[in-house]
Amino acid sequence: MRIFKTPGELREWSRTEARAGRGVGFVPTMGCLHDGHLSLVAVARERADSVAASIFVNPTQFAPGEDFEKYPRTEARDLALLEAAGCDAVFMPDAKAMYITDASIFVDETALSTHHDGASRPGHFRGVCTIVAKLFNIVEPAVAVFGQKDFQQAAIIKRMVRDLDFPIKIVVAPIVREPDGLAMSSRNTYLTPDERARALVLNRALDFAEHYKSPDLTEKIKSMISEAGLKVDYVTLADPDTLEPVTEPRPGLVLLLAAWCGKTRLIDNRVL
Ligand code: PAJ
Repeated sequence: MRIFKTPGELREWSRTEARAGRGVGFVPTMGCLHDGHLSLVAVARERADSVAASIFVNPTQFAPGEDFEKYPRTEARDLALLEAAGCDAVFMPDAKAMYITDASIFVDETALSTHHDGASRPGHFRGVCTIVAKLFNIVEPAVAVFGQKDFQQAAIIKRMVRDLDFPIKIVVAPIVREPDGLAMSSRNTYLTPDERARALVLNRALDFAEHYKSPDLTEKIKSMISEAGLKVDYVTLADPDTLEPVTEPRPGLVLLLAAWCGKTRLIDNRVL
């Protein structure tokens, strides 16, 4: 497995792969890898001839006061996991290699990102779109794989690729959960044992949503989450393509939720 620190080196590797007829599958991450991330590498392996992952804790997608400083960095372990998962190349730039200090152009999605996490985390999706666009331009992948865990992010990246003509196929892979149902997340490492137990309500609430057809669905779910001692940020039924909130439950909608479990913000979702 090759490890690259600068955009130039990674691009040279990727172009060599493409010239040899090997399309590159790309998995962007912020590290602290778990089986959710590794499932994306497996999907990229199936869809492409060569696989590159990136590890970069992107400062611009963290709002002031969020967890950028304390975001877990576990590079040696991450590299071992990526190698074992069959990754061919890893891009691990430092912030200087990715951001020019007087950069003045950003990628701003203006519809899907006004809702849900975009409303709760101002500037978050601008940071995500800008870094993913830069990574796409550096890696030049044929395919890029994102997780349904971040449903809104995946929808926005699909929109960016469509609207800005990136010649990249976006694949969205299913949410990987712990055996007890908690969606895997790098941020789960912040949870105390007590919080970890209480966080299980999120998956229970999504299970409940699959069978509950009344219009008060989101209110019911908010109560379930509050009763477990979490603080609801949002619980919303939405159209899976536009992410516009919808009130009447019907098949094919996505239920998106975010809640604070102590100091940790967790998100989860289910297509109903
Ligand atoms: P990160 O949170 O590290 O996630 C990297 C990718 O892993 C994302 O596509 C995310 O949806 C996916 N993922 C996380 N948990 C998952 C789970 N339990 N099951 C399946 N997939 C899961 O998302 C980001 O990083 C950043 O915003 C990034 C796209 C790298 C841009 O900085």
